[in-house]
Amino acid sequence: MSISNQLKFFILLFFHLFPIHRAEVGTAATYNPPYTPTKCFGTDPSQFPSNNLFAAAGDGIWDNGASCGRQYLVRCISAARANTCKLDQTIQVRIVDYAPNSTSKPSISGTTMVLSVTALNTIAVSSPSSINIEFQQV
Ligand SMILES: *[C@@H]1O[C@H](CO)[C@@H](O)[C@H](O)[C@H]1NC(C)=O
Repeated sequence: MSISNQLKFFILLFFHLFPIHRAEVGTAATYNPPYTPTKCFGTDPSQFPSNNLFAAAGDGIWDNGASCGRQYLVRCISAARANTCKLDQTIQVRIVDYAPNSTSKPSISGTTMVLSVTALNTIAVSSPSSINIEFQQV
């Protein structure tokens, strides 16, 4: 292999091992228990990660149900009140429900996703009804 072919090989290998999912900007609300039944997994208790970091998908990411079980990295970037975001925190949430039809209603409707209470409180203080987020599928 010539040097340049080796270089090409390693560049391709790098992008294969570390695919770039571009981060997007959106909004998040929150919702309280009861969390079941969900549109994705019904009443199955094993759908919820043990750390309780999960979310319901809004119309923007629901993808006709294909988003069920997807994992997203989420970070709070701003909110109506200053100093709401814990800027150094990033969470990984699992999609378990369809927000517009969730068993308990979101704090506000129409957001990109709706976070469990634990998920929201991990990235924001004072339980805001909505925050601006940066998110990226894992
Ligand atoms: C959400 O609820 C509406 C109204 O009941 C229904 O028409 C729609 O099919 C539901 N969507 C999903 C994904 O369950």
